[in-house]
Amino acid sequence: MNRQEAIESVRANVENENLVKHMLATEAVMRALARHLGGDEKEWGLAGLLHDIDVELTEGDMGSHSKLGADLARDLGASEAVANAILCHNETHGVLPETTMAKALFCADPLTGLITAAVLVRPDKKLAGLEAESVRKRFKEKGFAAGASREQISKCCDIGLELDEFIAIGVEAMKGIAPHLGL
Ligand SMILES: [Fe+2]
Repeated sequence: MNRQEAIESVRANVENENLVKHMLATEAVMRALARHLGGDEKEWGLAGLLHDIDVELTEGDMGSHSKLGADLARDLGASEAVANAILCHNETHGVLPETTMAKALFCADPLTGLITAAVLVRPDKKLAGLEAESVRKRFKEKGFAAGASREQISKCCDIGLELDEFIAIGVEAMKGIAPHLGL
C-alpha cells in the first residue's frame, strides 16, 4: 500500500474533516519521530495516517475502535507492525505498545490534539507563530484541552524523549504541513 491508497481509504471511511486533519497531523509527527529515532519513515507515517480510520465506523464503541482499524489496515496491505501499532493506541484492549513505532503512536496521538488546541486559542489561529514553549505551558494547564491525555503524552519517555524535545518535534512537524491542516 502506498500513501495515496492510504489517503483514499481514509477519505472513503472518514467524513469529518477535522478527524482527517488529526490523522494527517499524526502522520507528520510520526514521520518526524521516525527520522529522529531511526525508524522506517514510511511505516511510521502509515501508522499515524491510518490510526483512527475506524472512528466513524465504530461510532464511539471503544471496545471495537482500533481493532477494526487494525483489520482495515491489514486489508489495505499494511504490515503487521503497522496494524499492531494501530491496535495498541487504544488502551481499552489492554495490549501494551511494545515496538518503538507503537510507543511513538501512543504518545504522538494526543500531542497533535494538544498542539491543535494551542493553535486555535491564538488570535491568528496559525501554526507559524506557535512556539513549543507555549505548548509546554498549555501542557501544565490541566483544564486546557483536557481530552489530550497528559499521561499518554508523557509516555514520550518510553521512546527516549524528554517532554520538551517531544513537543518541539511535534510542533515543527505540524508546521511543515500547516496548509493541509488549515492552521
Ligand atoms: Fe487519534
